[in-house]
Amino acid sequence: MRDREPQHTIDTLFIKTYGCQMNEYDSSRMADVMKQAYGLRLVGTAEEADVILINTCSVREKAEEKVYSELGRYKKLKDQRPDMIIGVGGCVGQQEGARIQQRAPYVDLVFGPQTYHRLPDMIKTIRRERVRITETDMPEIEKFDHLPNVAHHQTSGFVTIMEGCDKFCTFCVVPYTRGPELSRPVEDILAECRSLLDQGAVEITLLGQNVNGYRGIGADEEEWDFTMLLYAVAALPKLRRLRFTTSHPMEMTDALCQAFAELPQLMPYLHLPVQSGSDRILKLMHRGHLRHSYLEIIDTLRHHCPEIALSSDFIVGYPGESDEDFEATLDLVRQVGYDSAFCFKYSPRPGTPAAKVADNVPEEIKDSRLQALLALTREQAATALQRQVGKEIEVLVEKESRSTGDMQGRTPDFKIVHFRGNPRQIGQIMPLRITEAYGQSLRGELILREERI
Ligand code: SAH
Ligand code: SF4
Ligand code: F3S
Repeated sequence: MRDREPQHTIDTLFIKTYGCQMNEYDSSRMADVMKQAYGLRLVGTAEEADVILINTCSVREKAEEKVYSELGRYKKLKDQRPDMIIGVGGCVGQQEGARIQQRAPYVDLVFGPQTYHRLPDMIKTIRRERVRITETDMPEIEKFDHLPNVAHHQTSGFVTIMEGCDKFCTFCVVPYTRGPELSRPVEDILAECRSLLDQGAVEITLLGQNVNGYRGIGADEEEWDFTMLLYAVAALPKLRRLRFTTSHPMEMTDALCQAFAELPQLMPYLHLPVQSGSDRILKLMHRGHLRHSYLEIIDTLRHHCPEIALSSDFIVGYPGESDEDFEATLDLVRQVGYDSAFCFKYSPRPGTPAAKVADNVPEEIKDSRLQALLALTREQAATALQRQVGKEIEVLVEKESRSTGDMQGRTPDFKIVHFRGNPRQIGQIMPLRITEAYGQSLRGELILREERI
């Protein structure tokens, strides 16, 4: 028997995405699922949408409040158009569950990061039965088996290869919102990469909260580690550039460091979060590595790939962090020399072990430490950019830069370059001479200009 036809069709979808690249990936897959089910169009504003989905992140402070204030805006739209559907997905959805609908009863649907492949069914039920749904189970990454083929039209594609995290750093909510580490089978990953490459991508970034903790089943029924997977992806025809993020120091092997020397497709850039330079704090955080083991990894990486650019995440003001601990962080930054860095003030997250102890570093001290760390890492970033001036570099042209009409691309070590070019160059790797360095990007000029533009 056919379902009763809904009163009006669903034509348009708006997705608002917060958080990490895995959320970006998830949002694009939600769009794929919804397009397949309803043939709808993705729109750029909530005002135009029949379905609004917020894909949330709860990793740092005030995440929940941000979601409620965003929802407040959408409520006004729903007052005017009661048929529209509002859903909250992602990590806040997982964490807060039905509490969201208690506080914001106009939310039709709450779902976690592992259940969005069921979106069309959930939406069908909501429309037919006029109910509200909360769907926060964590099935064994079945979602990947239920998603349509990836649709993609860009130069650079992302593929989630593993989900979740088992590391349980004391400050972090991710193991609770994303669940345990689960890796996709090798053949599924290769098929998704091939599909992206066939649709025109030339660069692939493999994604996971602990991407180098990958342990998936290969076609040989054996367990493959991350390095084995990396070699297999690098061997795919048409792939020009390969990247991955985020890596955990505990999962860095010598073989993986060596891959940077052996695989020409693997770009010389690594984001390797350390969080703190103080052993005392690293132990309190349950990071599973110490300062010296982290520095050893950096040495091994630079031995195999001297030109590698490094970036990291840092937390300042973790409970109990002293001036001396913070000095140790600054010292580690000086010792390593980062091309970029992401620095955060510690904020307690619900349900984490660190939230049970007093958040005892005063706000002013957190602020001043953050400023000091930002000053140092920005100076290092500026120096790293300055060093590129005068060099000839192969740049992958990604898009037209909206503000200036220039073209924008990336160097192998992930720096942004702007240059005068032509949209036809998107997707090509072109040699550029770097002429200037700005605060966060470079300027260059094409070395081999096309005959006639
Ligand atoms: N899986 C990655 C990143 C996880 S979240 C990793 O292991 O490194 C991204 C970053 O957010 C973390 O690296 C950390 O620096 C920061 N972060 C996580 N929880 C935080 C908290 N409670 N307060 C402040 N920063 C936090
Ligand atoms: Fe969070 Fe630590 Fe897991 Fe990274 S490794 S996601 S910081 S628990
Ligand atoms: Fe945020 Fe969840 Fe990613 S908490 S950082 S969206 S895994």
